[in-house]
Amino acid sequence: MNEPPEAAVTYQSYLQLDKLLSLQTPRSTGPEHDEMLFIVIHQVYELWFKEMLHELDRVAALFRSDNPHRAQHTLKRILTILKVMVAQLDILETMTPLEFLSFRARLEAASGFQSNQFRQIEFLLGAKNENALSRFPEGSQGRIALEQRFVAPTIWDAFLHYLAREGYPVPAGHLTRDHSRLVEPTPEIQEILLDIYRKDAKSAEICERLVDLDEGIAEWRYRHVRMVERTIGNKPGTGGSRGAAYLQSTIGRNLFPDLWEIRSRL
Ligand code: HEM
Repeated sequence: MNEPPEAAVTYQSYLQLDKLLSLQTPRSTGPEHDEMLFIVIHQVYELWFKEMLHELDRVAALFRSDNPHRAQHTLKRILTILKVMVAQLDILETMTPLEFLSFRARLEAASGFQSNQFRQIEFLLGAKNENALSRFPEGSQGRIALEQRFVAPTIWDAFLHYLAREGYPVPAGHLTRDHSRLVEPTPEIQEILLDIYRKDAKSAEICERLVDLDEGIAEWRYRHVRMVERTIGNKPGTGGSRGAAYLQSTIGRNLFPDLWEIRSRL
């Protein structure tokens, strides 16, 4: 029997636009004009988070397969995405406090606090925090994904393993460490990094891209909290935190502390 002919792929079908463009559903009555922007921008962020995770996993895989050039290339792509993500906050800042208030109550307890992909990115970059797990129902897909990320090696671990294979004396404890713990600054690793900066241009370039990444995430946190301050002042967040005061407390933690420690010794 002849198979029915497959419909030709179109722009609409390939991108599943019917589905995608039916997903913006404001909750306010009217609806309030600015709620559409609020929904679209958050959805766009979640798509970028998805792409970031996709690329960060690739960086780790490229380190594992001893491919530093491709890892660096992918890191550059991630940094470019991050710049766009930070710049996008400008759009939301065109929304005044009163425009936000016109629909804020309809968000109820929903908040970026509950962004599972954002936590996955944090975990993959080494910012592990067990408390974040409890915000997702046990057994849910999001909780399982996050639990896996919680115990999995970070980008920094993948880089240290790569350096060990390149012949650098990475202490054994670092190669077998408990990945659910935060990375602490370590003198032995700092000696290796100093050596790299002085003699190994290829690995030093990667270190610089990791510093860019650390700075890029910090930039996002800083711009997000400033936007929060100008939009809701010091009101609590819909997610139940102290709002801007909580967000301020997340700024200033370095993802790759050793890379910052060595700067004053170079
Ligand atoms: C008017 C715009 C926004 C306001 C007023 C706002 C407010 C807040 C507040 C107050 C928090 C703290 C948690 C809470 O108690 O709710 C928070 C966390 C968060 N928001 Fe936003 N936000 C806005 C836009 C965005 C956008 C566009 C994104 C992009 C995805 C985003 C992502 C996040 C994330 C990931 C967190 C968790 C941060 C952390 O725990 O370190 N927010 N937001």
